[in-house]
Amino acid sequence: MTRYTEIKKQLSANPKTWLVTGCAGFIGSNLLETLLLLNQKVMGLDNFSTGHQHNLDEVQGQVSPEQWSNFNFIKGDIRNLDDCSKSVGTIDNSVDYILHQAALGSVPRSIVDPIITNSANVTGFLNMLVAAKEAKVLSFVYAASSSTYGDHPALPKVEESIGKPLSPYAVTKYVNELYADVFNKSYGLNTTGLRYFNVFGKRQDPDGAYAAVIPKWTAAMIDNQDVFVNGDGETSRDFCFVENAVQANILAATAEESGKNQVYNVALGDRTSLNTLFESLKSALQANDVNYQKSPVYRDFRAGDVLHSQADISKAKSMIGFEPKFKIQQGIDKAMPWYIEFLSK
Ligand SMILES: NC(=O)c1ccc[n+]([C@@H]2O[C@H](COP(=O)([O-])OP(=O)(O)OC[C@H]3O[C@@H](n4cnc5c(N)ncnc54)[C@H](O)[C@@H]3O)[C@@H](O)[C@H]2O)c1
Repeated sequence: MTRYTEIKKQLSANPKTWLVTGCAGFIGSNLLETLLLLNQKVMGLDNFSTGHQHNLDEVQGQVSPEQWSNFNFIKGDIRNLDDCSKSVGTIDNSVDYILHQAALGSVPRSIVDPIITNSANVTGFLNMLVAAKEAKVLSFVYAASSSTYGDHPALPKVEESIGKPLSPYAVTKYVNELYADVFNKSYGLNTTGLRYFNVFGKRQDPDGAYAAVIPKWTAAMIDNQDVFVNGDGETSRDFCFVENAVQANILAATAEESGKNQVYNVALGDRTSLNTLFESLKSALQANDVNYQKSPVYRDFRAGDVLHSQADISKAKSMIGFEPKFKIQQGIDKAMPWYIEFLSK
């Protein structure tokens, strides 16, 4: 039995209370769905800045009424310490685990407006740490980012070797790691950072200027629009299906002492070029009777982007029992019917 299977069994038998910040967003709503299906009690915090009520409605449709009644949502902002404290609870009645996802994603957004990115990702993060420390939660797991590797040339990326950040977003995510470590050393708060590498799957927003590549291209293909590739298409990424990221969160929160207070890569440990991704999306759409005939349109590289990214995931495998179940094509095949249905509404 894998550690994940074992932990899910234990949690079902002995439910815990979780706080998912950013629960109306992509990764947060997938965490929420899995936890409710495991009969956990979940607090949610979101200000709907990039998340949506329809994501919460969709989760409601995936779980039983009884499981849904285990969910308590606070519409609030992590930049406000009171909202953070309210959602974490008090020392006598706090959540057990925090999965902190709320932040403003996107490298380009941070280049356009570093102040707003900093306020959510650094001030908001610090508020959450303070609330978690005051309430003495069992563990605080947070969304870190592969952008922290910055200009370090080594491939695959190993947790200990990082370079200089290439964007304001990357700075904020690195600051998260520094603060988390200091809160462990200064106050004994258990913190674990998950450096996500290009997570994708259902409910990842296809709309807006800062949409990620998979939902953006999928939406364009379904709508028979041009697909734009930044660079020559040989740029590569370690795409990670969201259910693998959910697994990492649950494993990290419930880790033994030796697995806590660490930073882990969360990815597949594989590398896919944008040209290959384009073909994979096209064939997944074809399997769903959507035939996209156009060729990609190539344009300049984007500022702040790294050329290649691939994770070494051996640390998460050995220390918390992470075993990503879904390869990229399996993830794309799973996500595609959702995109087709969502975009036809
Ligand atoms: N998706 C990826 O590939 C990826 C990669 C690396 C890191 N991350 C990190 O993972 C986390 C989740 O990302 P996602 O892709 O689900 O993004 P998302 O935008 O779908 O979700 C973020 C959620 O946080 C909420 N939020 C933002 N600012 C807030 C604030 N001030 N107060 C309360 N709620 C706020 C948003 O409304 C949204 O629901 C983020 O921290 C992001 O930086 C994501």
